[in-house]
Amino acid sequence: MVDAATLPPQTPPSDSNKARLGGQMTNSAHKRGSAHTIVLGNEKGGSGKTTTAMHVIALLLHEGARVGSMDLDGRQRSLTRYVENRKAWADGAGVNLVMPDHVVLPRSDLDTVSEAQAAERAAFETAFARLSSENDFVVIDCPGTDSFLSRLGHAAADTLITPMNDSFVDFDLLGRVDPQTWKIKGPSVYSEMVWESRKRRVMADGGKIDWIVMRNRLSTLAAKNKRRVENVLDALADRIGFRLAPGFGERVIFREMFPSGLTLLDLRSQGVDTPLSMSHVAARAEVRGLLDELELPTDWRQAKSEAPVERAVGAY
Ligand SMILES: Nc1ncnc2c1ncn2[C@@H]1O[C@H](COP(=O)(O)OP(=O)(O)O)[C@@H](O)[C@H]1O
Ligand SMILES: [Mg+2]
Repeated sequence: MVDAATLPPQTPPSDSNKARLGGQMTNSAHKRGSAHTIVLGNEKGGSGKTTTAMHVIALLLHEGARVGSMDLDGRQRSLTRYVENRKAWADGAGVNLVMPDHVVLPRSDLDTVSEAQAAERAAFETAFARLSSENDFVVIDCPGTDSFLSRLGHAAADTLITPMNDSFVDFDLLGRVDPQTWKIKGPSVYSEMVWESRKRRVMADGGKIDWIVMRNRLSTLAAKNKRRVENVLDALADRIGFRLAPGFGERVIFREMFPSGLTLLDLRSQGVDTPLSMSHVAARAEVRGLLDELELPTDWRQAKSEAPVERAVGAY
């Protein structure tokens, strides 16, 4: 059993982590339009950020929303490659596939940290201001490491989705667990980074970040480890302020579609002649289940033709 009562609510970052997060708090704010911003983040590679980002993008596009997408992993560029593959596949097949308004931001290679951060901030703010005033949603895919660009992305979030593999290795970035008793000992580096981003957001415009943790690549087996992770996550959710979403199962189809740039949501589009297997149907239901859990605003449907409203969000 897990006992979260030993932790203070919303435990603040340790001093060492504050330093790691970039020192001085600033009250500056990014200018943006009325788009709702969804950020995919954690400090772990291979947990499903890019796969989830592309499926959320496709789902919203199929709903009729205008979607801007931003790839902050300028080194791996996985989301960018996904979008490029999608465009190439659609052009090759002569199919009119729904596409996001996509931007990739490379890391600055300027010599000093302050110069590099200033350049990255300027590039982020320019891209973000445009995407959020011209779209209903902006979906931001972050790298699996702590970086200045990733922090900028987190501070712009309305909704933050953190996919994690069903393992205590991934859980370790959210909270520390006693190996004997399975009790939670405290929050970890990534939770502290989110805590800091939330604080910046509140100071800048009073806005809140709705944080959703989703377990990815779940096995169908009711293993002991799976139940343990579930219990510990339940306990940690209240303590550090996230909601738990059901997540996606371990399915080969999530891996297969990258080269074509297609997602499970496209399989019924005109010109995409892929017969739906049971596994496809189940996986589509999981993606739709995630969207339901996100509780995203729906006012964009009515407000589509209205002029964008400028507002501020937290910034590093
Ligand atoms: N639910 C899933 N089932 C099977 N494979 C998955 C699933 N989600 C992601 N993958 C695969 O896991 C790898 C890492 O996913 P990715 O989305 O690139 O993670 P991240 O962006 O967090 O590094 C990729 O090969 C991807 O195809
Ligand atoms: Mg990725």
